[in-house]
Amino acid sequence: MAGKFEPKEAVQLDPPKDDVISKEYLAKCDGTHEGYPIYVAIKGTVFNVTANTGSYGPGASYNVFTGKDASYGLGKSSLKPEDAHPDYSQLDEAGLKVLDDWYTFFSKRYNVMGKLES
Ligand code: HEM
Repeated sequence: MAGKFEPKEAVQLDPPKDDVISKEYLAKCDGTHEGYPIYVAIKGTVFNVTANTGSYGPGASYNVFTGKDASYGLGKSSLKPEDAHPDYSQLDEAGLKVLDDWYTFFSKRYNVMGKLES
């Protein structure tokens, strides 16, 4: 049986990196800075979504999650910019489950570039 959140097309992922990524660098990775990749961080883990500009590029639906740790907004199923922040401690149990599901979804599709500095 296929596992949960498997991509429709197989995705060849690189071994996860464990670089420490600064908030300043991550902030540049929002699709608006030429020469920078596009990153989304979830629970401190940084994913490279550059290949999916259709979803994450400037003006795209999910660009709000890029260049930051957007855990709260993902867990809350919110696209509001003010919800795209790292503090997921305010999520209820259902929201925490949604957040973990997104983590799994991203893990199966996007390369891990490292951990966001704490
Ligand atoms: C009217 C409401 C919405 C519609 C119609 C919609 C539609 C979609 C569709 C069609 C996909 C692609 C699924 C796939 O590739 O298999 C998607 C992916 C996604 N959606 Fe939504 N969505 C909606 C609302 C939201 C909200 C509120 C969030 C906030 C968390 C959200 C976050 C995402 C994310 C993160 C992806 C994954 C994109 C990727 O990396 O491929 N969506 N959505």
